Amino acid sequence: MKIIVVGTGFVGLPHAAVLSEAGHEVYAYDIDPQKIAAYESCDRSQIEYYVNEPGLAAAIAETHNRYLFFTTDISEIARDADVFFMCINTPPMRNGATDLSYYLNAAHDIAALLAERESDNRVILVNKSTVPVGTARVLENILKEHGVRNFGVASNPEFLAQGNAIEGSRRPDRVVVGADTEEDFQILRRVYSQFVNHVRIKYVETTPETAESIKYMGNTLLLTYISFWNGVGARVAESLPNVRMEDLKIGVTADGRISTWGSYVSNGAGGSCFGKDIQSLIYQLNQAGASTDLLQAVYNINEYQKTYLVDRAIHEANFNFNQKTVALLGLAFKKRTNDMRDSAALKAVEALLGKGVKEIRAYDPLAMEAAQEYWFNPEKNHLLERITYHESAQEALRGSDAVFISTDWEEFRGLSRTIEKTVAPPYLVIDGRRMMPDYEMLVEKGYDFLAVGSPFLPGKAVVTQSSDNGVAVELEPA
Ligand code: UDX
Repeated sequence: MKIIVVGTGFVGLPHAAVLSEAGHEVYAYDIDPQKIAAYESCDRSQIEYYVNEPGLAAAIAETHNRYLFFTTDISEIARDADVFFMCINTPPMRNGATDLSYYLNAAHDIAALLAERESDNRVILVNKSTVPVGTARVLENILKEHGVRNFGVASNPEFLAQGNAIEGSRRPDRVVVGADTEEDFQILRRVYSQFVNHVRIKYVETTPETAESIKYMGNTLLLTYISFWNGVGARVAESLPNVRMEDLKIGVTADGRISTWGSYVSNGAGGSCFGKDIQSLIYQLNQAGASTDLLQAVYNINEYQKTYLVDRAIHEANFNFNQKTVALLGLAFKKRTNDMRDSAALKAVEALLGKGVKEIRAYDPLAMEAAQEYWFNPEKNHLLERITYHESAQEALRGSDAVFISTDWEEFRGLSRTIEKTVAPPYLVIDGRRMMPDYEMLVEKGYDFLAVGSPFLPGKAVVTQSSDNGVAVELEPA
């Protein structure tokens, strides 16, 4: 098949690479010439600057200029293409609705090109990025308006998690195809021939609107599950006596019907999809006059979770953030990405600045550049000048009064030793990801410890000092 992938971000680029592996002739198209030049170079660091996915650069290098082509101009190719995959970004608006302006611009441009083609071959336009229910129908009307002949529209949502885009595209759990005619289903079966009738991959054929809804239902259900653990599991272990979070999780998820994924408690789920999709679904249902109580509660629980540890520090640990220095470890919304969209760290920074901290010493293994782009704009808010950027966790810890761990990077698991070496009690450790299995050692040594899913533990010991007779004595906790 001759396929054009429109938009080469996180959704489009891995999709184009994996389609080309299946032997299709794939044109990855973007209006941004810098992106296209970076991909054409096949240079890993240039590709990862735009889309940081394991295996992506290698996959591109494998088929580039044989099955995979990059372009900023599809005027010729569009004339005899079989399928267009629309992978355009659809950001959220303030009221929760989806901003379709980029998508609609692209749709009109493509429709204008297709209206001029001489061939009467069937062409299908497939929505791959997440779009509100009914968008395939909007696309159909645009194509009709432009007088395009012999076309179909379809919805084929993408379910990839970041960090797993290539593997996830090669071996998805399911392929969902929403279309209107048997002819269009048949064309898409040829596109996805390796997945049709696969023993482990569900190939679902349905209406475009059902396919669009499956994407929203999937993401909001995952966020609901995470929020159950954050909003109920963590509260049980924090508030009721002698409940152990890890055992609680093991015991509950031992039931084969209950997933372990989503059961690790955190300072809130971020990323470019969950928050955006739940708000969009709330908006769509409200517009349709339907109730959204559960979704609203899930959204609120997740947002609350992003700052509640700051409140717990004040109320349970009696920590006064005013004029204090706080090390913020982890800025990305999850480990193994430099993506900060909707990251819990953004909310933590807002909360900490709001409480009057003197300095936030930030560190993340991958997201430092993204963070500086995001925050290094004192015109936006002069308080952002209080954020300083550091090259390691240890550097960030230096001179701090408290540390806030916001992302589950593996390297933070051994942090207790670094804390002990770098900062002395009185000191507050705020662990938003339960990254410190040996927290008891810190508590013994006098560090106050506050983690999601545990009651506050005040530091026990004590600074050791030499007594007059040279014998070490332990002082009362600070
Ligand atoms: C998610 C969905 O998983 C994916 O199917 C969809 O297509 C896009 O949105 P992604 O945004 O990459 O993918 O992130 P995911 O790995 O699901 O994690 C989302 C957030 O939840 C992260 O902040 C993560 O740290 C957090 N999380 C995840 C938890 O707090 N607890 C968990 O148990 C799992």
